[in-house]
Formats: sequence, C-alpha cells, structure tokens
Amino acid sequence: MSGSTITPWVVGNWKMNPIKADALQLVENFKHLLQTNPIDENKCHLGIAPISIALPMVQANFSSANRAIYTVAQDVSKVAGTGAYTGELSAELLVDSQIHYVLIGHSERREFFADDAAALKKKIGNALNAGMTVIYCVGESLEQREACQAETVVLQQICDIASVVESEQWEKIVIAYEPIWAIGTGKTASPEDAQAMHAKIREGLTQITAKGANIAILYGGSVKPENAVELAACPDINGALVGGASLNAESFYQIAQAFANTK
Ligand code: PGA
Repeated sequence: MSGSTITPWVVGNWKMNPIKADALQLVENFKHLLQTNPIDENKCHLGIAPISIALPMVQANFSSANRAIYTVAQDVSKVAGTGAYTGELSAELLVDSQIHYVLIGHSERREFFADDAAALKKKIGNALNAGMTVIYCVGESLEQREACQAETVVLQQICDIASVVESEQWEKIVIAYEPIWAIGTGKTASPEDAQAMHAKIREGLTQITAKGANIAILYGGSVKPENAVELAACPDINGALVGGASLNAESFYQIAQAFANTK
C-alpha cells in the first residue's frame, strides 16, 4: 500500500490494432475476467483506447460489463466543432458520441504526425472545452536520456500545456509518462527511474497548479504482468498506459489487478 489517495488508472492503448472480430473477442474476454474476479471501481479506473471507427462498438459492448470501463479516443482534432475539415474528428463530435476521454500527445503522434507543442495546445484546449478528460502523454527519447536531458524535456512538455488548462480544468488532466525508448521495446524503465521521473513531474505540477498533488501520473512503456506490481508499488506511479499487453485480455486484467491490489 503506498498510501496515495489517487485512484489508479489502467488504460489499454490498442494503437492501430486489431481487426473487428479480434476487438470484439478481446472485449468479451476482458468482461468475462472482470465478471469472474471483479476489480472494484474505487480501486482502479479502467479504460480502453481502440481505433476511432471502433469507439462506439467497444463502448456498446462494454456497457454490459459489471463495472465502468471508459472508452478512450487515441487522438482529437486541433480544430473544434464541425466544418469542412476532411478526415478530422473534433472533441465535440467525440462527446456527441459519448466519448469523454482522449489520449493526447502520444510519442507516436508527436513523431509521425507532426503533433508539436502548438498543435497539442489546441487539441488539449478543444478537448477540455468540450468537457473531455485528457490523458496527456510525455516522455524523452533515448538520446535525450543519455544526454541527461530527460527531466528538462519532460518538464517542458508539461509546461507546454499549462497556458491552455484553466485552473479548474486540471481535474480533467491525467499525465502519462512514457519514455520513448521503453515503448514497444520490451525495455521498461526501472521502478527507481520511473518513480524519480514521476516525483519530478509531481513537483512540476504542484508548481503549476494547486491541484498538482491529486493528478494521476501513469507510467507507460512495456508494462506487463511481470513488472506491474513493482511499478504499482512506487508512490508516484498512479497507474499504467499499456500498449502491447493490452491486446491480451488476461495480461491486461493482471496489470489492472496489480494496480488495484497494490495501491
Ligand atoms: P507498450 O506501449 O506497452 O507496447 O510499450 C505503451 C504505449 O505506447 O502507450
């Protein structure tokens, strides 16, 4: 028990996976595991971020689960509302389809889809103004870590968004620290390194907002059942953003259970 009052979050990021039949099976398998061995809602928030076309389907199928499982968009447009913006999906349209959670700033979007600080500020502003909860992803590259710039880079990424988050909106922000070198590589940050960065992020947040002590800071980067308990035991790690292991219902369930039982 870490004694933290923050309810942990365990969120599965399915990325550009899987095909529809497998997504439906994954949802059924996960619901079944929760049915057999429930995880108390007060002990762990659960979320799944499927591909955008599957959001309503996944949400509908989770509605028969024995507890809340949030459906999370993987991105949102930097354009608000509706209009002639081919290919875009705005925060208002997500909310119109009852999607109230969104990942913003994942390193894959920063790297491959030009999500720079200016774009991310617009996305976060739009999502918050539409009433969404934002899981904002930050993290350094291997080069930055080796050059001892990890803290500076990550704290800058937090500062980047400070000007668009109104003071009462910090309640709708969750941070996910995902060192890029740990994503999909099988290499996890050691619990000590992850905790040290989470403590720095916590310190940075408390300087920006009075709500800083209550913001959940998730760890992401090769989280699996084998390392989840150790990570969950760290006082400033308030959950996990899980990529690869969330595509297996049993692995994802075990990670959720680790956080629910350890916190
Ligand atoms: P991973 O991905 O768990 O496969 O490393 C995490 C993420 O990118 O959110």
